[in-house]
Amino acid sequence: ELGDYSHYMQKEIFEQPQALSNTLEMISGAGQLQPGIFGAEAADIFPQVDSVLIIACGTSSYAGLTAKYWIEQVAGIACNVEIASEYRYRQSVANPKQLVVVISQSGETADTLAALHHAKAQGHTYTLAICNVPESAIVRETALRFITRAGPEIGVASTKAFTTQLSALFLLTLLLAKANHRLSEDDEKAYLDELRHLPIAVDKVLALEPSIQAWSNHFANKHHALFLGRGRHYPIALEGALKLKEISYIHAEAYPAGELKHGPLALVDSEMPVVVVAPNDEMLEKLKANMQEVSARGGQLYVFADGGSAVKPSDGVHVLQMPEHYGLLSPVLHVVALQLLSYHVALVKGTDVDKPRNLAKSVTVE
Ligand code: F6R
Repeated sequence: ELGDYSHYMQKEIFEQPQALSNTLEMISGAGQLQPGIFGAEAADIFPQVDSVLIIACGTSSYAGLTAKYWIEQVAGIACNVEIASEYRYRQSVANPKQLVVVISQSGETADTLAALHHAKAQGHTYTLAICNVPESAIVRETALRFITRAGPEIGVASTKAFTTQLSALFLLTLLLAKANHRLSEDDEKAYLDELRHLPIAVDKVLALEPSIQAWSNHFANKHHALFLGRGRHYPIALEGALKLKEISYIHAEAYPAGELKHGPLALVDSEMPVVVVAPNDEMLEKLKANMQEVSARGGQLYVFADGGSAVKPSDGVHVLQMPEHYGLLSPVLHVVALQLLSYHVALVKGTDVDKPRNLAKSVTVE
């Protein structure tokens, strides 16, 4: 079943262009999005929604955190993200006009399911599941649903489920923006074109595997790594750090780069590689100043730049040049590069990539 691949994780990373085009199949020829792709009731519910609450665990929660940046910017609707195991036991204030979105690859995660039950018990009726398993528990209990078509994910570390969740969340963003009269027809067409082109854009990142692999030796003998990002790429730094710790057992932490001065800068020395997600977006100049703070303390930077980022390699500054900047959807491309980094670091370390110690694919107990 593995074909030419060494591990399921590698296979699943490389399946992402196909997983994305399968998930986005319904827009292949569409000039306009229809809310019905989220369920028959979506056309009635979306115009009523005054805020969004996203609930999930682990990688799925980072998809939610990325979507928070999209939903607030594009749809102009307030969005918060909560970890399911916290939300389910927290005394929160329910708002019946809030759309509660649960995200889960498996659809069986105990905390996410319990959080959904908690939301419903509090009176939430606008509920939406984004899930990769159509017959799973979570999908059966929401008013609305979107099934990602990543196909079975065998590797414990989530890869293609994450990027397809992101594509579903971008569709949701566009539909909420439409319902909120914030999306012109021209912008809708342009965003749909970018989504349709996404599989090809991901292919170009996959082609960078040899250069990313070349970095893996720099990480394999380290005990710690720091991941930095800003704006919609901060959640991608979080996901990159999670991937590295899960499969290579290297302690990795992610910070929004603006927080460096507030503590983590004290950790920086030449023994802790600092990975920077540095696309050419509106936060780049701020990020470059943060990179300078790291360099000035002898830190080793590993920078994922893209077209126009113009980060020059130098002593202590390693630069991977990604393809042209991809705007709002750029997180989808940058996470693929970080998946490949963690995969290759784990290969050098010889860990069990597909079944990391102490972890289970589906966390059906609390
Ligand atoms: C990380 C990973 C986990 C899952 C989490 C939620 O690579 O796989 O963090 O994302 O256990 O699982 P689902 O999405 O099935 O609810």
